Amino acid sequence: MWVRKCLLLLAASVTTVVADDDLSKYALTDTGSTNDGNTFPGVARPLGVVKLGPDLYTGVDAYSGYKPTGNFMGFTMLHQSGTGGAPKYGVVSQMPVVGVVKNPLSDAMNDARAAPDVTEVGYYKASLGSGTVLELGATNKGGMYKYTFPKTDEPRNILVDVSHVLSSYRGQQLEQRFLGGNITVRREGDDPDRFYYTGFGTYDNGWNRAGPWTVYFCGRFDSPSTYKTFLGADFTSDKLVEFSDESTYESDSARLGALFAFKENTVISRVGVSFISADQACSNVDSEIPEGTSLDDVRDETKEAWNSQVFRKVTTKETDVAKLNQLYSALYFMHLLPTNKTGENPLWDSDEPYYDDIFTFWDIYRSWTPLFHILQPTHYEELLRSMIDTWRHDGWVSDARSSFHNGAVQGGSNGDNVFADAFNKGVKGRVNWEDAFASMVKNAEVVPENNDDPRDPTGSTKEGRSALPDWLDLGYITPRFGRSLNDFSIASVALGLGKVPQFLKYYKRSLNWRRHWSRDMKALGFRGFLGPRDESGFIAQDPLSCGGCYWRDYYYQGLPWEYSFNAHHDMDTIIDLMGGPERFVDRLEMTFTPNIVPGNGQFGHTIFNPGNQPSFATPYLYNYVNRQELSVKRSRFIAKSYYRPTPDGLPGNSDAGAMESWLLWSMIGLYPVTGQPIFLIGSPWFSDLTIDLGGGKKLVITAEGADEDTYYVQSLRVNGRDWVKSWLSWGDIFEDGGTLEFVLGDEPTRWTTGRLPPAPASTSAEHARQLLRSW
Ligand SMILES: *[C@@H]1O[C@H](CO)[C@@H](O)[C@H](O)[C@H]1NC(C)=O
Ligand SMILES: *[C@@H]1O[C@H](CO)[C@@H](O)[C@H](O)[C@H]1NC(C)=O
Repeated sequence: MWVRKCLLLLAASVTTVVADDDLSKYALTDTGSTNDGNTFPGVARPLGVVKLGPDLYTGVDAYSGYKPTGNFMGFTMLHQSGTGGAPKYGVVSQMPVVGVVKNPLSDAMNDARAAPDVTEVGYYKASLGSGTVLELGATNKGGMYKYTFPKTDEPRNILVDVSHVLSSYRGQQLEQRFLGGNITVRREGDDPDRFYYTGFGTYDNGWNRAGPWTVYFCGRFDSPSTYKTFLGADFTSDKLVEFSDESTYESDSARLGALFAFKENTVISRVGVSFISADQACSNVDSEIPEGTSLDDVRDETKEAWNSQVFRKVTTKETDVAKLNQLYSALYFMHLLPTNKTGENPLWDSDEPYYDDIFTFWDIYRSWTPLFHILQPTHYEELLRSMIDTWRHDGWVSDARSSFHNGAVQGGSNGDNVFADAFNKGVKGRVNWEDAFASMVKNAEVVPENNDDPRDPTGSTKEGRSALPDWLDLGYITPRFGRSLNDFSIASVALGLGKVPQFLKYYKRSLNWRRHWSRDMKALGFRGFLGPRDESGFIAQDPLSCGGCYWRDYYYQGLPWEYSFNAHHDMDTIIDLMGGPERFVDRLEMTFTPNIVPGNGQFGHTIFNPGNQPSFATPYLYNYVNRQELSVKRSRFIAKSYYRPTPDGLPGNSDAGAMESWLLWSMIGLYPVTGQPIFLIGSPWFSDLTIDLGGGKKLVITAEGADEDTYYVQSLRVNGRDWVKSWLSWGDIFEDGGTLEFVLGDEPTRWTTGRLPPAPASTSAEHARQLLRSW
């Protein structure tokens, strides 16, 4: 027995001490937090439910709560990272206020910033105008607030405002609303002077136009206090309850909360959240942050969680700190969303995992999910199972989901691509593929009910593919509808499951994109683009304009020119339609030529837009005609020009880590073709990089001669064999691990002379079948 005890003690000490190989010091947690990157710079564990950080008021939408300017309004437990559209969360708040409080809801509760915030992995510090310093720490479902109040005779208060949410100022009816809640204050144990509070808040709306959802909280203090509760702007004034055992306020809309006043200078508060009950919120915080835990303990445990679960999976002997900053910051920000809410799903009973805050598959299916699969195979399998379980109980695998509600759909049903990517790379585990397939078929066949979103009233933005009526009837999509599709993904899963008739059906449908190819659209000496059409033919369209580029426009967040490269299952057809390999290369070159599109000022006026997903794969498409050296030239230029490990270092919204995953693939020297077990070869950044694939498997990448200006591939050996293809398959290096030995030089070389990457849909159904069977 004593042996076991010793082992347990040992295990406990190992998890709380930050080890020598602390890679977390390289992750700069404010990267991408300004300049529309919208990342969350507060404290969080990998995929943790709690993201504890400040909410700033500047009069414009603060998507992660944070802004580099403005006044603090509160420090809240739930946030998103890197999103746009309209804010979600910013709930379960505490706010320090020094002085006598008359109206707990007045602007006087806001406070200025006295010094720049300090952020690092596991730790956040804010200095307020009142002289108060607030330091934060986080676990999965709990957070720690450590207040150091100024020395003053004024009251030192902590305001708990249950009705606090992040506002939206865009006027699109996407504002979150507080719908009601309660707060109960009780004596802590036998201590006559210490109190804790529990309760819940119910909210709705926000970017995904969610219905009502509820979060429960449990907040404890380590110091004596007095307190008052409030309803609306009024304290219970003469009904002031001091030192009473219990006091409760409840509201179905009026704002409510409590104000605690402390005598001591330093106050620690531990707060837990749950989506099940207030009791569970208490047990979450008590088990994750037991009484007596110090902020240093919480910080060190958080660092170790990041090191062991994320950072140590990718290692290098590189010593250039700026490059290490870029590597580990990108890894950090691709692990803030989605959130693992297993055990916290209030909607249905199930033994399956539950993942929430998917923002959105449209953003993340191209580069994030393929990398997440490699770095986090266990989480990935759980995410797939959660998607299937959501379909079982909620009817759909939607493009997006947050606060337990589907929406908002961007392109269509992009979860289909995630399933196909996983399936074609052999993910099995406990994933029920028959059910996954059934969910894909539902997306492909059942028109979702219109949810009347003013952003796109033509069909559902909650789930499914709203343009299905046209797609099914006509085989193309008229401007009557705004949201579209992914049939090749379904075809590939159907074949793998032995469903040949369905394979043939969806394979055929996956070729219908060709009906949108308008030979008459012209720009910059190139002819033939994806064009809008209706029953009477093509509609006039400039390939270099997407109009408003918004939900109801012909093209969503991308130019017709950009989308015309994007049927990645049918690349040989694209190359043919564009006039053959040389014209294809010319067109790619034009995509990256400066001073072509006046609107794209931030990006040298190129057609290519590094700040959004539709063009993510385009820099690598030269590999489809064996011009790999041009892929290296373009992708390296983009990575070096538009990404920096600085607060303004992202070219657009992080999009739940999508941007950071694109950058990581550039560093690795590969780019995934989602839905196919194929990787296009780029050029790695580091002389050596080792990726832990789990189960003792590794991918070891070396690059002789790698340097700032030396990045063109001269030669490559894969698992010790000379390699002349511009691509690799999953089986080559990921299934059982492998080695990539690059030799890099400063001159572009045409070293790729081998068989071109597969274009599974371009020849015939029989060819596609053989190819898919070989996967
Ligand atoms: C507060 O809400 C919880 C959850 O609905 C409920 O169990 C509790 O009774 C409420 N408290 C009061 C005083 O109404
Ligand atoms: C997700 O959360 C559940 C519940 O906390 C946990 O059991 C599971 O291990 C987590 N998944 C991973 C991959 O850490």
